[in-house]
Amino acid sequence: MDYDKTVFAMFCGERNYRASLKEFATFSRIDPKDAVLELCCGTGLLTEMLVDKTSKIVGLDRDEQQLENARKRSSLRDVTFLCQGVEDLLGDEIHRGRYSRVVCANGFHYIDPEKFYGVMEHCLAPGGRGAYNVRVTSSTENENFIEEVLTKINLLRVRILQDFQPHADFSNIRIEGGGGYLKPISISDALSVPNNLVVTNKKEYTLFEDPTKLNLFLGYFFEIMQPFFEKVSTKTIPQRFDYISPVGFMSRAQTWRDVFQGGVEDKIRSVSKPRVLKTELFVEVARRG
Ligand SMILES: C[S@@+](CC[C@H](N)C(=O)[O-])C[C@H]1O[C@@H](n2cnc3c(N)ncnc32)[C@H](O)[C@@H]1O
Repeated sequence: MDYDKTVFAMFCGERNYRASLKEFATFSRIDPKDAVLELCCGTGLLTEMLVDKTSKIVGLDRDEQQLENARKRSSLRDVTFLCQGVEDLLGDEIHRGRYSRVVCANGFHYIDPEKFYGVMEHCLAPGGRGAYNVRVTSSTENENFIEEVLTKINLLRVRILQDFQPHADFSNIRIEGGGGYLKPISISDALSVPNNLVVTNKKEYTLFEDPTKLNLFLGYFFEIMQPFFEKVSTKTIPQRFDYISPVGFMSRAQTWRDVFQGGVEDKIRSVSKPRVLKTELFVEVARRG
């Protein structure tokens, strides 16, 4: 499944996910004269919202495949995309002090914080602002719903391996999705930036689960099972399992939904309060002095 579909499925559908990015784009306070560096731009979902605000945008991501998808968006034809690691910018003179805005949506957790802040400071022009979002723990008891579901999905994978394919070698299968889950940190950690930066603004943003989007979750689950479906059609599966087509495998997998302890669906419907999918802190920083 491609990146966009995965995040839409994980976070309550396209409309809700785009709404969260829109909120972040607004928080970034970009205006037409700004020169923007977008770190971890991925497939350009946020970039599409930034091109409405300024024409001077450089998007950076270390994954060429993600960038290829970003380049395909016609609205982004004037954006300069760089395939580089964020860390590579440290000490790169081309980018020193060049941007009035450095933004990063859903990328902070992939990068060593010291390097992340270092890049902010290095690339920001005097008077410029950096904006990024951090997943934080909230006081809501229903926090971490996604983690709960993903844990169950992993249990289900193990169950399938044991129950169904005891002799097959799955060790080299790359599991798509699931791995993108970001561990939250505390709000105070999210706000403790190095001395050469200062926090100039912050905003909490919470995305709630939406039971009407449950089918997306299940779709996501079946998509991430795809490597297993592919595996059943290869020689590693004993002959006696030959009758198992991907379709047959899928319907059988349906019956293992009991691993979800009553089913995700029932569980969601039984909760009266809306469950938190993720709470983020949007953070704005500037160079000190
Ligand atoms: C969760 S995606 C976010 C994409 C986009 N900003 C969005 O919000 O939809 C994280 C992106 O960060 C990129 N990434 C992760 N670590 C990186 C690094 N060290 N340098 C550059 N890009 C990185 C990944 O390739 C991926 O495209």
